[in-house]
Parts: sequence; structure tokens; C-alpha cells
Amino acid sequence: MYAFFFRLVFRRMDPERAHHLAFAWIRLAARIPVLRTFVAAALAPRHKELRTEAFGLRMHGPFGLAAGFDKNAAAIDGMAMLGFDHIEIGTVTGEPQPGNPKKRLFRLVEDRALINRMGFNNDGSAAVAERLAAREAVFRTVVGVNIGKTKVVPEAEAAADYVKSTERLARHADYLVVNVSSPNTPGLRNLQATESLRPLLTAVREAADRSVDGRRVPLLVKIAPDLADEDVDAVADLAVELGLDGIIATNTTIAREGLGLTSDPELVKETGGLSGAPLKERSLEVLRRLYARVGDRITLVGVGGVENAEDAWQRILAGATLVQGYSAFIYEGPFWARGIHKGLAARLATSPYATLAEAIGADTRKAPAA
Ligand SMILES: Cc1cc2nc3c(=O)[nH]c(=O)nc-3n(C[C@H](O)[C@H](O)[C@H](O)COP(=O)(O)O)c2cc1C
Repeated sequence: MYAFFFRLVFRRMDPERAHHLAFAWIRLAARIPVLRTFVAAALAPRHKELRTEAFGLRMHGPFGLAAGFDKNAAAIDGMAMLGFDHIEIGTVTGEPQPGNPKKRLFRLVEDRALINRMGFNNDGSAAVAERLAAREAVFRTVVGVNIGKTKVVPEAEAAADYVKSTERLARHADYLVVNVSSPNTPGLRNLQATESLRPLLTAVREAADRSVDGRRVPLLVKIAPDLADEDVDAVADLAVELGLDGIIATNTTIAREGLGLTSDPELVKETGGLSGAPLKERSLEVLRRLYARVGDRITLVGVGGVENAEDAWQRILAGATLVQGYSAFIYEGPFWARGIHKGLAARLATSPYATLAEAIGADTRKAPAA
């Protein structure tokens, strides 16, 4: 049914307008008590066996919404209503900014992919902190806060911008993500080099500890799929050295591999980050490499091209404790998370593993060579 609706309505609309329309519907449904109870009962049934714990946080399951869909923390309950077990909001920058000029989001329907160069359009850390502080949660869910650099802030002053966001947002975050991997802010991905990343993560850790009493906010870093393998290893080693809680692999790619011949070549040429199905293989590869390096010393979050339960299961077997998705939600619609949960529960039941935790990394442990 959604496929029919998508073809008839969303596909004919500009992708960013379609996003705003769907977003408004989700927010509206979550505000109407009878409706949201009904929708959550239909789309977010719980599977006890999928209960997950990651960096000390308990969740209904391992499957969450990746950053970028709810940049301003405006639809947390709506997304929980649709069955996501955790919601990562952001990327939020120190200061508000409009992002890149439109058009900046493109659908490659035949490839089940998206290209975006949104450029961190968001309300800024002060406004988002206020929204999170005022939120009266309807659904209990885990909220991650993903932070990035304000575009006008020079690379050399990046840490101060991240610290500003941390001071404002950490107390409202169940976990915090340092995003150094979006391709749409000039220079941002240079921060992945360990010489830059070490002081940045240290400063954010200290700022989080300073600004939150009585709780240690888990800190994660989100990396790009375009890193060379040695650089993936270097980030993994640094994360262990600094006692980071997690690594999110991966963000979108600037590569254009894995695309079929059917997508419009003009669209393929658009600059920006590619996400969805063509990213699947590389994201999985990076995840495997990370798990082979860090094992269970650091929690891994697998994201990039996850379309269905089998993909989510493969990420868990590769080493992910949590799995996230974004692009396939556009193509699959509101029943997406429900299907993933059902499929994961079925796979776990017929697997040799008694719990989801036992399955984490099982494939990579069997064949560790990357
Ligand atoms: C339109 C769009 C906007 C995004 N914005 C962000 C963002 O602000 N911060 C971030 O860390 N990732 C962002 N992402 C990347 C996703 O969180 C995710 O890492 C990537 O899309 C791969 O997952 P997918 O293939 O399931 O979409 C964005 C992705 C898309 C498609």
C-alpha cells in the first residue's frame, strides 16, 4: 500500500517537500492521544527477546532512526510511535544555520538511494536544547544527540563549537555523537585524522562531564565510509585509548559505486553524500573491520544501506549492538521498523544464539581477517 502511495504522491513531489509533509503528519499523529496509541500498537509491537542494552542504556530493541531525519528534535515521540527503538536527533551545530541552497536532496529511486547536500540545516544548539528541555515524553525512548560544526566556524576553532553544543545539549542527551563525517560541511571530515580527533573528543568528553551532574553521558563518534582502511583502524585505536563508548559506522559516501545503470545520470552527478542500498557493502565492511579491531571493548552502531531484517541481522552478526537506518524509510514507509523487528525476532529464534547479545559479532569472530 505504501509503495502505491509513494508512487502516486511522494515520488511526484520534490523530495524535501515530501519529507516536510511526512514529518508534519508524523508529528500530528503523535499529538492525538487515541491515534498515537492505535498507531504505536500497530507499528511498534514489542518483542521481549529483542531487548537491547548499549552503553548502559536499555532499549526495546536494537533498531533506531539515524541522524538527519529529525534534525531539530521535533518528532521524537512520532518516530518512537513508528517503532524506532532509539532516535538520534541532529546534526545540531553550535549556531543555527540554513544549510545549503535548495535543491539539495535527490531520490535515486531505481537504486533505492538518496543523494543529499543538506549542509546541516538546523535551529542551532540553544534552540534544540530548549526544545529537549521542554519535551514531555509520551513514549519512553532513547534519544541520542548528534553534534557537528557550524559552517562559518573555521576548522581550527571547531572544538570550541562542539564544546558549546555539548555544554547546551549533553544534559538532555541519553548519548552524544560527535559527527566528523558528513561530506557537506567543507573541511569537516579532516577532523577524522587522529591529530585533530584526539583533542576534539577529549574536549567534548570534558565538556560533557563538566555540564552533567551525576551521570556520565556516553560519547560516540560517527565516521565516513570513505576512510581508508588504515584510518578506520586508527580511529578504532583512538576510541579505545580515549575510552569512548561507541563508534557509528557509517555516514553517507562521496563515492558513486554500487549504482545501477537505471538511475538518471544527471542525478548521479549531483554533489553530496550518497546513502541507501549502494552504501550497504562498504558500511558492512567498515563495521566488520572495526569489530575485528575493537571486539566488545567498544559498542558499534551499524548504519548505511540497511533495508530489511536480513540487513539488520547481518550488521549484528558483523559486530553491531545497535543498527540504524534512514534512506530505506523513505522507500519502505511506516511499516518499516515493524517488519525489521519481526524479521529479527524470527532470525534469532532459528539461529544458534540464545540472545541477541550472543549473536553480536559472531560472523566476524568466525572469520576475523578483514
Ligand atoms: C537527507 C539526509 C540527511 C542526513 N543528515 C545527517 C546529519 O545531519 N547528520 C548525520 O550524522 N548523518 C546524516 N545523514 C546520514 C544518515 O544518518 C546515515 O548515516 C546515512 O544516510 C546512511 O544510512 P542509510 O543508508 O540508512 O540512509 C543524513 C542522511 C540523509 C539521507
